[in-house]
Amino acid sequence: MSDCMIPSLPYDPQTLPRELARHYIPAAEEDIRLMCAAIGVSTLDELFRHIPAQVRMHGPLALPEELAYGDLYHHMVEQSRKNHLADVSFVGDALPHYHVHDLVPFVASLRELLTAYTPYQPERSQGTLMTHWLYQSCLAALTGFEAINVSQYDRATALVEALHTAARISRHTRTHFLLAGSLFPQDVEVVQTLISGTALSVDIVPLDPERGTVALETMQAYATAAAEPLAGIVFSQVNSLGCLEDVDSLTDLAHELGAQAIAVVDPMLLATGGLKPPAAFGSDDRGADVLVGEGQPLAIAPHFGGPGLGVFGVRLNAAHKQDIRSAPGRFVGAGYDEAGREAKLLVLSTREQHIRRQKATSNICTNQGFVTTLAAAGILGRGEQGMQASCARARTAAQAAARELIRFPGVKLAFLDTAFWNAFTLALPRSSAEMIEAARQRGVHLGVDVSSRIPGSSGNHLLLSFSDLHAQAQVDALIACLTDLLGTRSEPEADFLPAVPAAYLRRDAAQLPTWDEAELREFFTALSAQNISPDLTCYPLGSCTMKYNPYLNEVVAVLPGFAELHPEVPLQDAQGTLEVLYHIQEYFKAITGLAAVTTQPVAGAQGELVGLKLFQAYHRSRGETQRDIVLIPHSAHGTNPATATMAGFETVQRGGEIVSGVVEIDAATSGQMNLEHVRQLLAHYAGRIAGMMITNPNTSGVFELQFQEVAEMIHADGGLVYMDGANMNAIAGWVDLGALGVDAVHNNLHKTWSIPHGGGGPGDAIVAVSERLRPFLPGMQVVKTAEGYAVERPPQSIGSVHRHFGNVAHKIRAYTYLRALGREGVRRMSAVAVLAARYLHQRLKPYFPTLPEEQDDSPRMHEFIITLPAETFARLESGGISRTKAVGLFGKFFLDFGFHAPTVSFPEAEGLMIEPTESYTKTELDRFADAVILMLRLVNEKPSILTTVPHFTPVDKIDDVSANKQVILSEHLTNLPAVLPNRRAPEQLAQMSLEAIADAIRKASAAKLGSGVSG
Ligand SMILES: Cc1ncc(COP(=O)(O)O)c(C=O)c1O
Repeated sequence: MSDCMIPSLPYDPQTLPRELARHYIPAAEEDIRLMCAAIGVSTLDELFRHIPAQVRMHGPLALPEELAYGDLYHHMVEQSRKNHLADVSFVGDALPHYHVHDLVPFVASLRELLTAYTPYQPERSQGTLMTHWLYQSCLAALTGFEAINVSQYDRATALVEALHTAARISRHTRTHFLLAGSLFPQDVEVVQTLISGTALSVDIVPLDPERGTVALETMQAYATAAAEPLAGIVFSQVNSLGCLEDVDSLTDLAHELGAQAIAVVDPMLLATGGLKPPAAFGSDDRGADVLVGEGQPLAIAPHFGGPGLGVFGVRLNAAHKQDIRSAPGRFVGAGYDEAGREAKLLVLSTREQHIRRQKATSNICTNQGFVTTLAAAGILGRGEQGMQASCARARTAAQAAARELIRFPGVKLAFLDTAFWNAFTLALPRSSAEMIEAARQRGVHLGVDVSSRIPGSSGNHLLLSFSDLHAQAQVDALIACLTDLLGTRSEPEADFLPAVPAAYLRRDAAQLPTWDEAELREFFTALSAQNISPDLTCYPLGSCTMKYNPYLNEVVAVLPGFAELHPEVPLQDAQGTLEVLYHIQEYFKAITGLAAVTTQPVAGAQGELVGLKLFQAYHRSRGETQRDIVLIPHSAHGTNPATATMAGFETVQRGGEIVSGVVEIDAATSGQMNLEHVRQLLAHYAGRIAGMMITNPNTSGVFELQFQEVAEMIHADGGLVYMDGANMNAIAGWVDLGALGVDAVHNNLHKTWSIPHGGGGPGDAIVAVSERLRPFLPGMQVVKTAEGYAVERPPQSIGSVHRHFGNVAHKIRAYTYLRALGREGVRRMSAVAVLAARYLHQRLKPYFPTLPEEQDDSPRMHEFIITLPAETFARLESGGISRTKAVGLFGKFFLDFGFHAPTVSFPEAEGLMIEPTESYTKTELDRFADAVILMLRLVNEKPSILTTVPHFTPVDKIDDVSANKQVILSEHLTNLPAVLPNRRAPEQLAQMSLEAIADAIRKASAAKLGSGVSG
């Protein structure tokens, strides 16, 4: 391929300090030598010498040689071109494909929005919080729902969460649901997979093959026949055959039965002039109770199915004051800072896994945050008129096509009397599969074969979907293709397309704002400046691995060949992406030392859920359904116990003793698992343990030296071992998880494997498993055959955890990263990450005690926990600042020096967990260490300085108590919100000497104390 065929990069990598560094490690060999010398090792290998030899990996990994930057870009462009995009496509089905507004790629290029962490430090995250707020407000305008969360993974998993929410609203007195048989089968499969083994149950109510919808009478009959009161009825507005359901009657029925009306909608079609918003469903306008939808098309192209955007909402009004307490996920609320400035912050967090652990409303942690940011950009870029136009265009194209297509010999609308909007099902004179293939050869992706969705179909049903990408030209191309296949059309007949009943339509305007695009660009740019990016400086969030996210990955992921590819096109046309997925499977087998891999899960927590579902399936296959205990150390991340609950391991206590569910393993004084306690638990729950979940290295940054021994004990009892791989950045390429005894592990791609955090997601996960779990893997395995890449379902698969193939765009990013690392880079990456952490720890140890106490000598891996010295705590306490408050405030002090805060109060209440990663030079690490030491000096000098932190962010400390008392989750958007500037931007702080920053802090603090603003 010649260079002229390769699009030029939209940035100059020479100007980016980390982009061209080998393996994205900017530390020079001399830096590495000096850091090694400082901590007393002579080679990187020595960093791992305390890990038992029998579980260590030796030598380079079985990965291809690393590719140089330019070659890598060429390789990825070529790879993307192995996919074939059709000239025109009518494949939409479970994932409609709309035009991506120009504002979206612009916002995606704003690095402080793209690469920032979840906005747990609101003073340094107003940019992300505002974009999420805009998303919530736009979706509230479109749907009428008062409480939209900032995302679930996708529509299918949002549906699972909706069932859990409805059951919780009934206080688990109702756990049975009716699901319309016209929902997308992909979603239904995810629901069935994820609720198996839990208290929830569903009946699928068959659709009426004459009408293409679910008949109310059938739904009623199922409700009457149900052995228990219903928790909810689930139905979609536009169903999987393109037909419009009678949402009013279905909502009324749910309400008559005292059940929740759970509505599945396509948000794109709720614009002004479109379909009725779910808040108005029902004859009495009470509306649906829980809302679910797929928002990916609001923001981005199909990307072979992911990242998606699970839209989820509940009501928050006089009739539904408490439902929100049962809802999953994050909500952004409105509040004020100490000086009375308007600010945004996360609210209602006490429902979430990081606080309530096994009692949380859901295990979701990383969500699809950045897709919500892009959805806000997509909606606001279009504005009120643009959204209306997109919705209308989809409708007009569908009608124009339907009118013409039914003139072909033997072609009919499958459901003559049923209204449709932008998709319809045809009955064809030949088999759909045959027609799809014939059209494919003519450059047309004709649609999706939906014959299996219609009872009695003879294999000739085809669903065609339309969007704002379709106009008369695309309809003409479709007609030309079908003329070629079916012959000439008959004369047009009087228009007898089914009319859409007035009751199905939106009555009022959505009233989205219409803002100028140039102003929006400035606005989003200003928002991004309120955040901070790991591009700039060490982002020390322990357990989160905030490493550098290569620019190249972003360019590659949106190459049209990858981005425009729909997950339901014929697989011959998706060979480029399938090949990437195949290699990802192979690479992660090599990296983990395990037997097989699934690329379907989309976040760490979902990987955990997959792991436990696999454990259940394995035990079931052996007839061991009595295994109802999961062992988890106390120090584990909150997602671990929350996942166990979601998987069906509900914790039940009797007489102070846990009889089923999550049982905690104590920590030994070493900070590692207490072996004696594990022995006791194994004796107590013998034969009942489904598995254990262990984070390794653990959340104190210590490698669990007895992991293998414990794994053997668990296996001897018939249980299985899940390793939470959030901390793989410490051990990738050095530890053989197979030898360690791991049965399943997730790798968070948004941590170790360089995917940006996006202000809270989308993340991604790859789950690797041992041989015994291979037959049960979810979704499809990509296999290499003589004809190319194909997909295969494992023989005893648990089902699916994603409606398609997972967050494929992230797999493209991770693959690109892995090709840059190659055989040697993975080991070098983790070794330098460990080196950086040990070096920093060495520098800070003389000033700060390490936690867990008395464990200064356990070698730390990629992160370490420090706390304030006793005398500093004492001085702060005498000034009225409690120890835990002091730790939180000291975390905010980092913001003053242009850093993000470390992870505070997890897993140690008084801890500051620091993880520097391999992405910074020794000079940068030294400046960071000097800054932290200086912070301590400043606090010792004047403890009250902590009461005024942070000093330079756009807002001061935010009053979260008031914001949680009166929860406000959206606004009617009129004028562009004001964006407060940084008082000193992180870039500016990075240029200042530390002493100059200290002086500025002293002055700012004195001014605040003088004006009475302090907390
Ligand atoms: C140790 C650990 N386990 C699990 C998770 C959950 O992963 P995710 O946020 O990708 O769902 C995290 C996320 O921060 C983590 O740090």
